[in-house]
Amino acid sequence: DKGEFPHFMLKEIHEQPDVIRRAIQGYTSDNSLDLKKLGIERLEVSKLEQIHIVACGTAYIAGLVCRSFIERTLQIPVNVEIASEFRYREPFLLGDRKTLVIVISQSGETADTLASLKYAAGHECQTLSICNVPFSSIVRHSQSSILMTAGPEIGVASTKAFIGQILCLYLWSLAAGKEKGFTSIVEIDEALAELKQLPNQVAKVLETKSDIEKIAAKYNGYKSFLFVGRGSSYPIAIEGALKLKEISYIHAEAYAAGELKHGPIALVDKDMPVLAIAPNDRYQEKTVSNILEIRARNGIIIGLGDSENKHLASVCDDLMSGPSSSNEVFQALLSTIPLQLFSYYVACQRGEDVDQPRNLAKSVTVE
Ligand code: M6R
Repeated sequence: DKGEFPHFMLKEIHEQPDVIRRAIQGYTSDNSLDLKKLGIERLEVSKLEQIHIVACGTAYIAGLVCRSFIERTLQIPVNVEIASEFRYREPFLLGDRKTLVIVISQSGETADTLASLKYAAGHECQTLSICNVPFSSIVRHSQSSILMTAGPEIGVASTKAFIGQILCLYLWSLAAGKEKGFTSIVEIDEALAELKQLPNQVAKVLETKSDIEKIAAKYNGYKSFLFVGRGSSYPIAIEGALKLKEISYIHAEAYAAGELKHGPIALVDKDMPVLAIAPNDRYQEKTVSNILEIRARNGIIIGLGDSENKHLASVCDDLMSGPSSSNEVFQALLSTIPLQLFSYYVACQRGEDVDQPRNLAKSVTVE
């Protein structure tokens, strides 16, 4: 039931504050992390020396968002990889339970992700799955699992599941850090306090939807877009580009902003808007320099960042307003919402079937 919304995608975008609230309720008790629900109890965290996060599509991007945070929290290397590559390339895995392979899948049935999980299990790795469907094949084949709090996702374009995946990974790494003795109770308290602000922050972004709809109307006729960002905004650029091509069939590519001058800037002209994600973070100044380079080549800039930031506003043709967070994972999560809405409105304005885009299935059970 779509309720008051014309499409499941828009409904699911609006459910995201509740996905976060349910995560707070579901993975914490008495203001501390619930180690059982976060899959810690069935893992031997102290043994871990490396982590591989393996998934497809948007679920893979959720891994990219959390990689740096997990590395810093657990002080071990984290690799994030596409499942269809991981399963065949014969990756070097430390056996003897020293490697944890985390697979992420909304459906829990994705063929390449399931095959990667089985490969890992067959190579003496520990395995953890993050899924939205209880008793799915991936859940059944994992040593440990975390059930996401997204609720059923109907739209083929993943929206609320992405937010659910990021939250699971983030809270899991805090819990694993606690288990390893690296994360203090104070740090966890601070993280949970910030997390409690998130539902309202996301709700505020949703209130800007008519502004985003207007920006979408201005740009929906272009044939090609570049999305750029740095730090945790880089995976969000990838996610933004994926969403746009998936439902509007417009060509969109994502680059780390620092890569522009290594090739893609050659593409920049007045016919290809560049969507630059530039929140108030330690990367912003560098991203603004990239924006200036694009402008110098007659490129069009749609920014995503703090609308109160006059300098940023002055270098963008249009600026989608997005809140800032000092937490890089939450920042990524917040920047996702305007891009979901942007793709949604562009696709609707072009008359596309946003819930059932051509050539795509919700669950990819064949490779
Ligand atoms: O069910 P899964 O999370 O394993 O699916 C993975 C991808 O097929 C999925 O995220 C896909 O990329 C989405 N349609 C993106 O919106």
